[in-house]
Amino acid sequence: MTLSMKRSDTSGMDQDDRDIVRRYHQRTKHHMKRYAAGPHGLDWASQPDPFRRFTGAEHITLPLLADGLPSLYKDIYVSQQAPERPLNRDNIAVLLELSLGISAWKQYDGSRWALRCNPSSGNLHPTEGYVVCGDMEGLRGGVYHYQSFNHGLEQRCACSLPISGGLLIGLSSIHWREAWKYGERAFRYCQHDTGHALAAIRYAAAALGWQVRLLSNWGDEQIARILGLDRSEDYAQAEPEDPELILWVTPEENSAAEPAELISLSQKAKWQGKANLLSANPQYDWPVIAEVAAATKKNATHPESHTNSEGDWPPLRDIPCELKATTLIRQRRSMQACDGSTAMTSEAFYRLLDTLLPRSDTVPWDAWPYPPHIHMLLFIHRVTGLEAGLYILTRDRSAENGLRKALLRDELDWRKPADCPAHLPFFQLLEGDARQAARAISCHQEIAADGAFSLGMLADFDRVIETGAWYYRRLFWEAGMLGHVLYLEAEAAGIQGTGIGCYFDDAMHDLFGIQDSRWQCLYHFTVGKGVPDTRLQTLPPYKHRD
Ligand SMILES: Cc1cc2nc3c(=O)[nH]c(=O)nc-3n(C[C@H](O)[C@H](O)[C@H](O)COP(=O)(O)O)c2cc1C
Repeated sequence: MTLSMKRSDTSGMDQDDRDIVRRYHQRTKHHMKRYAAGPHGLDWASQPDPFRRFTGAEHITLPLLADGLPSLYKDIYVSQQAPERPLNRDNIAVLLELSLGISAWKQYDGSRWALRCNPSSGNLHPTEGYVVCGDMEGLRGGVYHYQSFNHGLEQRCACSLPISGGLLIGLSSIHWREAWKYGERAFRYCQHDTGHALAAIRYAAAALGWQVRLLSNWGDEQIARILGLDRSEDYAQAEPEDPELILWVTPEENSAAEPAELISLSQKAKWQGKANLLSANPQYDWPVIAEVAAATKKNATHPESHTNSEGDWPPLRDIPCELKATTLIRQRRSMQACDGSTAMTSEAFYRLLDTLLPRSDTVPWDAWPYPPHIHMLLFIHRVTGLEAGLYILTRDRSAENGLRKALLRDELDWRKPADCPAHLPFFQLLEGDARQAARAISCHQEIAADGAFSLGMLADFDRVIETGAWYYRRLFWEAGMLGHVLYLEAEAAGIQGTGIGCYFDDAMHDLFGIQDSRWQCLYHFTVGKGVPDTRLQTLPPYKHRD
């Protein structure tokens, strides 16, 4: 047996964990001639159940009230515009219905599947949500698992926790749900989905007039403890859940309770419920996922101050969209095909880019306690007033010099388009028809070429991972949040988006002349006019409860 020696460098961090992350990232790249390791064909007999349940836990059916929420989508962006709702069970029900709840069912040829307000790679939904709260109107204090199938809360433990003026929402991932289909690359997708879920919660909370903060001081072990994920007796044969993050959700600016006291009280309480088995007979094991999950664990730290980029961005312009927040959030869909002709106006396009800037007082970036590390490399196909070609949006002005040095393709000219708003760090790099390149690099998917534009999210990878292997997850969360903004803003502009997790990593880097590993593309996305699949029937989200 060989024991690996952990080297600690001067920063006191384990170099090994960072090496594990870099190796994992490298080996899970898709290449034009070789995809990352995955199952050879889908084993339908072991397809995981997309709904976790805790049998034996008391089930509280939540009311379906989101239709009655008057907030408009555009109010979400304007501080105090959405009337603040009191903290109680009914409003928590709205929060969950509009973030992790089912948005519709699709039916075709005898099969039926649920879609949710949060998107998910392959619609496999590895993300589970939990509520941790004190006693409040309509709800006893304790820890609850959110069961999206029935829109209910499963009480894992009842106890009077000293939480007032807000609640905690925890997220976990079940890696197997994604690994069943995607093999080794699945860990990346679980992290994207966590970022989408985080943003979905932020938007839903904003529609209630509430604030959200990611609590960066909590360590993963603490999150596992408070949510009961480490109660191996309750999971027995069932697929485990990996702790991701914890959010403080509150109607008013006030501070969250400290982890130690909450954990100690919850451990003294009686816990109930056994996790269901999701796959009768899992066939594949992907040890690199367990390895990278362990390497990217985060320890508890002192509370961090808000470190978002301050950027002197002017306030976001109003969007000309009169849809209710509930309607827009529920109608969000991934387009499966684009019409290949509809152009986006430059006005709508620039407004959309603007929502991607990390304004620390604007949804969803006000929930995010880290600086921006991701920039956009765009393939513009059909935006009025813009030449087709390659473009870049740098989300942090201080990164611009580094990016100019990293993008080494000769002809790139970094020219600001004539009608681009002055504050947007958006540049044309190269003129030309980029459709074929976009399609080929996004695993030959037509949607990357047939929309108004598609893009790749470029992360300041090596430098950030050097600060801690745990940052690997956060880079994907940031990418997932960006994807979520794109999804909702595309809907608000009357078109649609689709997240693209399948792309050829290094082919993308080559196209822009990126030669070393410092900058890495972590997620792709496309925006355009979707063509609905008329064979599919759409059914309402919770009719099955009747
Ligand atoms: C991280 C991520 C990666 C995705 N990758 C792809 C992709 O490569 N191709 C694609 O057609 N759809 C992709 N999707 C879209 C999902 O298939 C879609 O979200 C899922 O089927 C649920 O549908 P909905 O978004 O309409 O709710 C991706 C979504 C996410 C969140």
